[in-house]
Amino acid sequence: MTPQTAATLHPPDAPDLDPTDINPAFAAQVLEGLSAHPKHIPCTWFYDRRGSELFEQITELNEYYLTRSETALLRGLRAELSRLPAGAAVIEFGSGSSRKTPLLLDALNAPASYTAIDISGDFLRQSVRALQLRFPRLAVHALEADFTAPLRWPAALEADVREQPRIGFFPGSTIGNFTPEQAVRFLHGTALFLGPGAHLLVGVDGTQDKARLLPAYDDARGVTAAFNRNLLTRINRELGADFNPQAFRHVARFDAAHSRIEMHLLSPAPQTVQLLGQRFTFAEGETLHTENSYKYPVAMFQRLAHAAGWTPHQHWLAADADVALHWLRR
Ligand code: AVI
Repeated sequence: MTPQTAATLHPPDAPDLDPTDINPAFAAQVLEGLSAHPKHIPCTWFYDRRGSELFEQITELNEYYLTRSETALLRGLRAELSRLPAGAAVIEFGSGSSRKTPLLLDALNAPASYTAIDISGDFLRQSVRALQLRFPRLAVHALEADFTAPLRWPAALEADVREQPRIGFFPGSTIGNFTPEQAVRFLHGTALFLGPGAHLLVGVDGTQDKARLLPAYDDARGVTAAFNRNLLTRINRELGADFNPQAFRHVARFDAAHSRIEMHLLSPAPQTVQLLGQRFTFAEGETLHTENSYKYPVAMFQRLAHAAGWTPHQHWLAADADVALHWLRR
């Protein structure tokens, strides 16, 4: 496919769309994914404002055990987590709403600073403000950055945390949304960023039970379906496409061979979509693959951590699900 730049994109059916408003990375990945077989779009594009709201609703669903189990696990680990180094710099990757952060900060022994890293600046500043109010003696920093790309410490921040032991935090089983190769690359990047002697706490879902997984990713109220279809609404709004989101069915499948839940949008009938001057045809039953959520049992995750240069030190499992918190060391 010929790459197009924002300046050369002419959305024919979206006269209100200013080509200079188009995010070129979004346009390129959507065009590339719709041209591929099977069709796919990276799940990072789920999280516009509406997508983030819908994800928050998902975390409160009965069927979505991940958030509840990990929160209960963290709550029960106060004594264990207090064994991590005192006076530490805590660094959270993809902090989002930082909802689980207070559980860690409360458990640690006099943490010195907290740095939240997230690509969404507004969200980041809002959650950092709330945390600062709750922990007035803690030095709280916000680093607006794509944590999946190589990270560098801004000089002022580095000077602040230089002498502090470092503890990375990556909860929520977000690691499962990377491919295993991307997960190793990310973990390796965190090892370089946090430096020698660092610690990393990672939340990982290892559930293999289909009866538990399928409802978690296809809930009775249809919140996950709305979250999945919202991607099409976003493509319509931001790239001037003419998807009819209701003409796609939300599908969740467990692929045991790859140990992952997949989300797709299935076209029950043939249909054509226009986007940025191109037409894309969906055959009857064809799907657009929108997300993988890898489920790593303990030993499988430990192998990834090892490959990335971390040493698994300890792990704890939730009482009611195969959700683990891994403590890794460098
Ligand atoms: C953000 N991430 C860990 C969620 C997951 O479970 O993979 C995203 C999600 N997709 C559907 N429901 C929730």
